[in-house]
Amino acid sequence: MPDPLSALAPAKINLILEVTGVRPDGYHEIDTVLQTLELADEVRIAWSEGAAGVRVSGPFATGTPADESNLAWRAAALLAGRLGRTIEGLSIHLEKHIPPAGGLGGGASDAATVLCLLGTHWGAAGAETEAVADAVGSDEAFFLAGGGTARARGRGERISRLPALPRQPVVLFVPPATIDRKTARMFAALDRLPFDDGEVSAAFAAREVSPVSGTDVHNAFERVAFDLFPGLAPLWEALESRSGESVHLAGAGPTLFWIGQDVDAERVVGAASGLGCTVIPTWTAGRR
Ligand code: C5P
Repeated sequence: MPDPLSALAPAKINLILEVTGVRPDGYHEIDTVLQTLELADEVRIAWSEGAAGVRVSGPFATGTPADESNLAWRAAALLAGRLGRTIEGLSIHLEKHIPPAGGLGGGASDAATVLCLLGTHWGAAGAETEAVADAVGSDEAFFLAGGGTARARGRGERISRLPALPRQPVVLFVPPATIDRKTARMFAALDRLPFDDGEVSAAFAAREVSPVSGTDVHNAFERVAFDLFPGLAPLWEALESRSGESVHLAGAGPTLFWIGQDVDAERVVGAASGLGCTVIPTWTAGRR
């Protein structure tokens, strides 16, 4: 039996997220600047004589499927199929520290980490793992490319690395509930509004490397998030008025985040007290 493999699968936030159009296949063109975080799931792959499968544990295990629909499992099965390998006896254990379906890319990161580990183990070419990443979802390419700070275009699969930003504190505010078919519904809600032109992402990509503040952050989904997530508007308003800082939507939500300076982080954490959300202080993280 091969030795077990393991790696961390980081969360992400979108510092900029623009939606620039809709494609004939129904997917949307995006132009986004992504940043990985220290908050990470732990991914372990092992082989045994027993049955293959996915096991999920950790503080955010609830809401992550432990069956064949799990993105990490789909990635492993698709890569094995492409390479003529078998997933017999292979088990994937995900220790979930990233809230699922929160806009933080946890599922995509788990899948990309599995592709990275199995791709190396099986000697896959980069093009093979990239093709599987694109087949599994839209955020996988960023994580497969190593994370850090990067701009993503197309459906999210065209990645350009950006210079690393200084390490900064980030505080995540996770509301208790998400909604069904969240990402699809968020994109569909934007179809009623004018599309972005990618200029905010272009300007961010061209800016001098310096710490990011809330006023630098831009997310097109913020125009529709209040309508779709019950209870998000009062949470957002309370966080901003109590902290005096600007708070933003993570990806397609509903997690909210603050990014700023170390001296302010404790006060921002305190501002969420009694508001009924889970507060996760973390940091931005560089490339894998
Ligand atoms: O890529 P992922 O499977 O997470 O996307 C979920 C849904 O979000 C898609 O089925 C699609 O409706 C929508 N989507 C989109 N444009 C993208 C990414 C996702 O319209 N670039």
